[in-house]
Amino acid sequence: MEYLDFAVGLARAAGDVLKYYMDREKQVEFKGRANLVTIADRESEALIIGEIQRQFPGHAILAEESGAGGVADAEARWIIDPLDGTTNFAHQYPFFCVSIGFELQGEIICGAVYDPSRDHMFSGSRGNGSFVNGQRLHVSGVDQLGHALLMTGFPYRVGEKIDMAMTQFRNFMLASQAIRRGGSAALDLCYVAQGKCDGFWELDLQPWDTAAGRVILEEAGGRITEFAGNPYSVYMKQVLASNGRIHDEMLDVLKRT
Ligand code: IPD
Ligand code: CA
Ligand code: CA
Repeated sequence: MEYLDFAVGLARAAGDVLKYYMDREKQVEFKGRANLVTIADRESEALIIGEIQRQFPGHAILAEESGAGGVADAEARWIIDPLDGTTNFAHQYPFFCVSIGFELQGEIICGAVYDPSRDHMFSGSRGNGSFVNGQRLHVSGVDQLGHALLMTGFPYRVGEKIDMAMTQFRNFMLASQAIRRGGSAALDLCYVAQGKCDGFWELDLQPWDTAAGRVILEEAGGRITEFAGNPYSVYMKQVLASNGRIHDEMLDVLKRT
């Protein structure tokens, strides 16, 4: 598929930018107390946007660092996180990625997430399955929350939502086998798609964090909703993603918070 192949090529090229800066001076700046941006975020985004504008000048763009661009009312939109996991990246903790999702008439139809540290290329498109380095992805078979490994993340301005975040964390801690906080929501979704973990929730995400990951997860057999179980849109803040089998149990935990 033309758009998927393009997204995959672009995610790999942007991943090379991140790899280049991994061991070099990153020119860290602060968008907020704990919210960083580096030269790698900016160069990765510039490369991605430049290529999209060259190849698809009529499309819309939504990118984390530069916001909306391209043709505003186009029915095709690229949704980009040039570096998901910037805090990890700034500390040389190797769990970060490039995420590129493609939306057509309001639906995310394909996406690519590239982890340059492991050379893992996750990709998926509606109706055609999802893959890591060409190998088909399937969610796990874990069917009880008590046996599940979960992932989560916290917003940068966690202070504003600390009570809700801690109550959810506590309740899932008591109900699951264990929880990990990876630091890259896009990779977290791909890990649920790959069956490396069984569920993921986060309370304040952005479209670029989840656009590619959502199609990869759903094409691997996973389920994604907001916290009350309603259909998910990448423009919503709350995300609950799972292998499907433990989704209702996770919803029950969220309803208690
Ligand atoms: C962040 C990561 C992190 C999540 C934050 C996101 P960034 O994105 O996905 O895992 O917990 O909510 O903002 O800033 O590294 O692109
Ligand atoms: Ca992000
Ligand atoms: Ca980012």
